[in-house]
Amino acid sequence: MEQLIVARKEAGKVVVRYMGTKRHMADHVRDTISELKPDGRVVDLFSGMGSVAESLRETASVVTNDALSFTAAVSRARFTGPDRSTPSAEVIERLLPSYEARLHELEAVYAVELKTETTALRGSRADLLSYMDKAQHVGNSAARRRKAKLAAESSGSEHYELASLYFSAGYLSLRQAIELDAARAAIDADVHLRDRDWMLAAWIAGTSVLVNAPGHTAQFLRPNSESAHTRIVRTWTRSLWDEFGLALEAVSQVGDEAWRRNNSVYVGDALDLVSAGELRDIGTVYADPPYTKDQYSRYYHMYETLYRYDFPDSTGAGRNRSDRFTTGFSLKTAVVSSFHDLCRNVSRMQVPLVISYPSSGLLGDAGATVPEIALQYFGDVQTRSYDANHSTMGASTGASKKSATENLYVCLV
Ligand SMILES: C[S@@+](CC[C@H](N)C(=O)[O-])C[C@H]1O[C@@H](n2cnc3c(N)ncnc32)[C@H](O)[C@@H]1O
Repeated sequence: MEQLIVARKEAGKVVVRYMGTKRHMADHVRDTISELKPDGRVVDLFSGMGSVAESLRETASVVTNDALSFTAAVSRARFTGPDRSTPSAEVIERLLPSYEARLHELEAVYAVELKTETTALRGSRADLLSYMDKAQHVGNSAARRRKAKLAAESSGSEHYELASLYFSAGYLSLRQAIELDAARAAIDADVHLRDRDWMLAAWIAGTSVLVNAPGHTAQFLRPNSESAHTRIVRTWTRSLWDEFGLALEAVSQVGDEAWRRNNSVYVGDALDLVSAGELRDIGTVYADPPYTKDQYSRYYHMYETLYRYDFPDSTGAGRNRSDRFTTGFSLKTAVVSSFHDLCRNVSRMQVPLVISYPSSGLLGDAGATVPEIALQYFGDVQTRSYDANHSTMGASTGASKKSATENLYVCLV
């Protein structure tokens, strides 16, 4: 399962395509939670792109949590903070000098490669394939890995080369990767820290619009057909800096200032969060765990590495970070115990737990059901079922759409 963030200017909102998104179910979840009349904040434990947290803007304050840190930047930008008063054009104007300075440095560093790329983009499909296959990156070149280590340890502008070293000539064109690095240099140099999450969320969202990948970033697309070739040439020649500007407009704040003031955003393992016992003022917990064996960290590694900008160990054509987060919810051998942990810890908090889980989920493959586990910890478990079409984005099932029954399990203490 995956997700891809696609930011478009649509009714002023970020449109996020995320594997397993509950956007289509958000109203049902909101209504179910409202009926529980939560006496405190609602925790969205596996919040992803936050479609459920967003739907609760007039119901209750929210605490979001997800294991992937780039999702938290998006959540902070949308669900926290005072009203923004700065127009996006002013942000662009503020960042432009630092952006251009780093852009020109990188254009000089990569002058030869940029020329090769331009020639490949003007050439045939075979030319582009050959360019992609021969391009050097951290996944196939010891020299690039050495450069990445130097950049990681640099305190100057040379630090800003991660996208070029990791993701160019694959997920992005080299030209776009350079723009991305230059934009990050400008964002990191900006002194208006209040705008930082907004800028970083837009930087990621703008990238997702242009990424050469099928909606997630487990792998990039190759020009294996004429239509793929045309699409890649068209996408690769678009400007990331322009998309960043549009995404600043699209990453709008949700709810009013009073609602956002009481919201919190956490990053980490959901099971750690509920077992730590540190959450305060909680009325209900909502859990939308992964339900297939696809680890999200594999599908969204590029956004995670971009956001963290931490020059991780990375190997192979996919340039995937080696220290990816993995969860028991996506392992057939651990999914049953993960559900036990979830139910045990939330029941200790003495609040209702609402779980989203499809009938076709991995838990069933492991021979268990949500009610049979939940009833060991809660006094009553009600099931509500809905027909839904899942977007799998071609992850492990291969099909891009899969019809399924979505269930909401309402577990009452
Ligand atoms: C089904 S998706 C949630 C989608 C979300 N409700 C939405 O509408 O965008 C599951 C999410 O759980 C996160 N995740 C997976 N295992 C986790 C864990 N153990 N702790 C916290 N988050 C986890 C994934 O990164 C992913 O964002």
